[in-house]
Amino acid sequence: GTNQSWGGRFSEPTDAFVARFTASEAFDRRLAFHDIQGSIAHATMLARVGVLSDEERDAIIAGLDEVRGEIERGEFPWSVELEDVHMNIEARLTAKIGITGKKLHTGRSRNDQVATDIRLFLRDEIDQVAAELARLREGLITLADREADTIMPGFTHLQTAQPVTFGHHLLAWQEMLARDHERLLDCRRRVNVMPLGAAALAGTTYPIDRHVTAELLGFERPAENSLDAVSDRDFAIEFTAFASLLLMHMSRMSEELVLWTSAQFDFIDLPDRFCTGSSIMPQKKNPDVPELVRGKSGRVYGHLMGLLTLMKSQPLAYNKDNQEDKEPLFDAVDTVKDCLKAFADMIPAIEPKKAQMAEAARRGFSTATDLADYLVRKGVAFRDAHEIVGESVAYGLREGKDLSEMTLDELRQFSDTIEQDVFEVLTLEGSVAARNHIGGTAPDQVRAAAQRAREALASL
Ligand code: ARG
Repeated sequence: GTNQSWGGRFSEPTDAFVARFTASEAFDRRLAFHDIQGSIAHATMLARVGVLSDEERDAIIAGLDEVRGEIERGEFPWSVELEDVHMNIEARLTAKIGITGKKLHTGRSRNDQVATDIRLFLRDEIDQVAAELARLREGLITLADREADTIMPGFTHLQTAQPVTFGHHLLAWQEMLARDHERLLDCRRRVNVMPLGAAALAGTTYPIDRHVTAELLGFERPAENSLDAVSDRDFAIEFTAFASLLLMHMSRMSEELVLWTSAQFDFIDLPDRFCTGSSIMPQKKNPDVPELVRGKSGRVYGHLMGLLTLMKSQPLAYNKDNQEDKEPLFDAVDTVKDCLKAFADMIPAIEPKKAQMAEAARRGFSTATDLADYLVRKGVAFRDAHEIVGESVAYGLREGKDLSEMTLDELRQFSDTIEQDVFEVLTLEGSVAARNHIGGTAPDQVRAAAQRAREALASL
C-alpha cells in the first residue's frame, strides 16, 4: 500500500504530475465550510442511529470546529497530495483527534459528500443572489415611480416610434428581472434536495437515517435515488441557465445605458463614480460598468455550454468528469453577484435629462399614430388615416416641422376632417396619457404598475 487514504490496493505512489492533474484542492477549498457543515450533520446522524458513540461524535464536531477556525484564520495546511477539500479536511481532523477522525467517513463516500457540499454552497449563494436581485428590482421600481411622468421616445428598430414614459421603460426592465427572480427561486427548490446517504452509488449497509441528516442541513428531502443523487448536476446547469438569462437581460439594459449616455442620444447622465476616463482623450467619460456587464454575459453563456457539455453522455453514476463542474459554477456565481451589485448600486443614481428626452420624442414624429387614431375617431378608415398622416410627416420632413408645430391650415391640406382639437392629441403628454390601460405607458398606469411590482417583490 501507499500512504494515500485509498492507497491500500496500490503498489506504487501516484505519478507526481497525475497527482497534480487529478487534484481539485486549489479550487474546491471554496467548499470547505459547507464540507464541515455536512460532516457535522453526518456525524450527528451516525451517533443518533448508534453507529458512532456520543463521545466520538463530540470529538469529531470539536475537531471540525478547530479545523474551521484554522481555515478562517488562513492557517490551514492545504496539501495538493491530499487531492481535494474533503480529504484535506478529513486528514487534518484525524491529525487532531486521532483514530476517531477516521470514523467520520463511515457510511459515506466523497461522491455523495461533494454533491451535498455543492448544493449547500449553491443554496447559500442563491440566497445572496436573490437578495441582490431584489435590491436591483427595488431600485428600478423606485426610479420608475419617480419618473412616471418623464417622457422619452420609445423605439422599434431603434427608430423613434411612439412616446413612452421613462418609468414605463424602467418597469419593462423590472419585468425581465421579475421572471429571472422566479426562475432562481424555482431552481432553489431543486438545489435543496440532499444526496448524502447515496454513498458511492448504491447506498450504504449502515442503518443511516437520511431524514435526520436532511433536517439537520435544512434540505427539503433526501434525494430519491442513490445513483441519480451522486451523478445529478442539473441544478448547477439550471443555475447557470438562470444566470445566462439574467445576464442576457442585463446586457440589453447595458446596451441602452451605453446608447443613452452617448452625445448622440444624451438621455441620461451616469455619475462619475460609475465611469472611467481615457488615457489619451481628455474629454472622455466612458460607461465602463454597463459595457463590462454586457461583456460578462458572454462568459456566463460559456459556462452554461461548458456544463451542458460536461454532463452530456456521462454514464451513471459518478465520474471524475464531474470534478470539472466547480470552476464554471463558481465563476458564474461570482460574475452574477458582481454584475448585480454594480447595477443595484448604479441604477438609483441614473440622472435622466428630461428636456433632451422630450425633445428627441418631439423630433421623431412620435405622435403620428395618435394623429391616425384621431382621424379614425372622426370616421376615417384606419388605412386612409395612415396614408394621410404619412403625407403630413413627409411635409413635416420637408419643412423641418413636427406635427405639433404645424398650423391647423397646414394639417388640413391632408384632411379637412382635422379640427382645432387635434392639438390635444399631438402633444407628448396627451399621447402617453391616452394609453391608459393595464400595461400601457400612461403615467397613472406606471404608478399603479410600480405599486403592484413592489407588492409582488415583497410577497416573494
Ligand atoms: N474532488 C471530487 C469532485 O470534485 C470529489 C469526488 C471524488 N470522488 C471520487 N471517487 N474520485 O468530484
